[in-house]
Amino acid sequence: MMKKLKDEVQSRRTFAIISHPDAGKTTLTEKLLLFGGAIRDAGTVKAKKTGKFATSDWMEIEKQRGISVTSSVMQFDYDGFKVNILDTPGHQDFSEDTYRTLTAVDSAVMIIDSAKGIEDQTLKLFKVCRMRGIPIFTFINKLDRQGKAPLELLAELEEVLGIESYPMNWPIGMGKEFLGIYDRFNNRIEQFRVDEDKRFVQLNEEGEIVGEHSLKESSLYDQTLEEIMLLDEAGNEFSKERIADGTLIPVFFGSALTTFGVQTFLDSYLQFAPEPQPRNSTAGEIDPQSEEFSGFIFKIQANMNPAHRDRIAFLRICSGKFERGMTVQLSRTGKSMKLAQSTQFMADDRSTVEEAVAGDIIGLYDPGTYQIGDTIVSGKEGFLYEKLPQFTPELFVRVSAKNVMKQKHFHKGIQQLVQEGAIQLFKTLKTEEYLLGAVGQLQFEVFEARMRNEYNVEVLMERQGSKIARWIEGDDVNENLSSSRSLLVTDRYDKKVFLFENEFALRWFQDKNPEVKLYNPMDAS
Ligand code: G4P
Repeated sequence: MMKKLKDEVQSRRTFAIISHPDAGKTTLTEKLLLFGGAIRDAGTVKAKKTGKFATSDWMEIEKQRGISVTSSVMQFDYDGFKVNILDTPGHQDFSEDTYRTLTAVDSAVMIIDSAKGIEDQTLKLFKVCRMRGIPIFTFINKLDRQGKAPLELLAELEEVLGIESYPMNWPIGMGKEFLGIYDRFNNRIEQFRVDEDKRFVQLNEEGEIVGEHSLKESSLYDQTLEEIMLLDEAGNEFSKERIADGTLIPVFFGSALTTFGVQTFLDSYLQFAPEPQPRNSTAGEIDPQSEEFSGFIFKIQANMNPAHRDRIAFLRICSGKFERGMTVQLSRTGKSMKLAQSTQFMADDRSTVEEAVAGDIIGLYDPGTYQIGDTIVSGKEGFLYEKLPQFTPELFVRVSAKNVMKQKHFHKGIQQLVQEGAIQLFKTLKTEEYLLGAVGQLQFEVFEARMRNEYNVEVLMERQGSKIARWIEGDDVNENLSSSRSLLVTDRYDKKVFLFENEFALRWFQDKNPEVKLYNPMDAS
């Protein structure tokens, strides 16, 4: 028997880790799973990432890249909490799904490599989190290596991200001279590479070590005390409320590889990270603890098994309890159906899920029923959760059918894949040529493979490179402003969009045509 629904929901912590490739996401995930007892060996998640775990039924692209649906969502128990970590694939696997995953979490953990600071992909993902207003926790990683000065990193956070931060702990030295972290929140020092029984040193009310201690002999200890004083006097104040509303980012330092600072991070994270929150819908705010089951689809993974062409639709449960076999309604069509085939994801296996509650993610077998953004409810009165945001594509290809005789299949395939949310479609104004837009190269590859496998069409894709897409306020514009460097196209809703060749072309256009008000949907908050 499950505990009371309220307790179950309150124990959920659902988050994604956002980072630039190589910052340490896989390593940190693995350490968190180890704490949770979800895996036994370090190296399990890594093996998956490098493809050593390949099993037979993944889609070809997935196999090559070593992505698996089982690592898309990982759940573990820790200290009375049920933690769900959602993977946000990056680098060459970066796609709109990476962004959409952030619509299904209640908070995010941002990992930063202490030597590199804030990198490109981190910034993009951060912006989406801000757009969603979700709290972000920062883990500055690799302190066992020489990196940027901590004060410099903090300044970078505030300048580049434009957000205030509160260091929960502070490093004492780094690299070869890394001695540990000064834990402001727990008023103790956690020593690096020191026996377990001596690892924590409690501090007095003034925040200093009482009596004799080897740490006091190091000038790094004095330097840390000075820096802490500076933070206390000139830094931001700790505020639980501001962390919860996402306006203050708690910052932790550590070294995922050596498992240092990870547990301290996890403990505080679970204490301050939000439980599942109410979500807006056409029926008003939906309370996660309400008895009625509801959720939305945020990702569809196609062709898990090419022989069956099945897909898995990822559903974020937003309220109530899911029970296998329950009858629900797809709000978009009003059709009712039985949720018999469902999957829950674990680090090392997929298993059938019998029950899950608000905050959890389940996979639904999808014979082609679902679209991204679909709402599913158990009650008689269907409602819709807020539409998923539109993400601005950055890469474009011109697409056509290789064989002109296959036009019908080609149009059907494109229409369905666009509707499902796999890729974005644009058309040139008069010639009505098709352009596909994506945030990552992987989307084109998946598109090409699915057109071939599911619609039996070979496509021709002509790379257009990266472009800056800007929508037009009021949607009214002189079509003669279109040129090769500022190409005017329409999106799938017939809204006009300029595709600029580069920043320069964008600025030049704005200077010449100040009356045309351009906007990026991802900047709207
Ligand atoms: P990612 O998922 O964000 O892409 O990063 P991943 O965890 O794979 O880490 C990238 C590299 O950084 C790995 O080294 C990993 O061992 C290293 N790393 C992660 N955390 C730390 C840390 O706290 N300290 C140090 N010094 N290194 C860290 P690699 O050489 O690319 O891979 P591997 O051969 O070691 O597995």
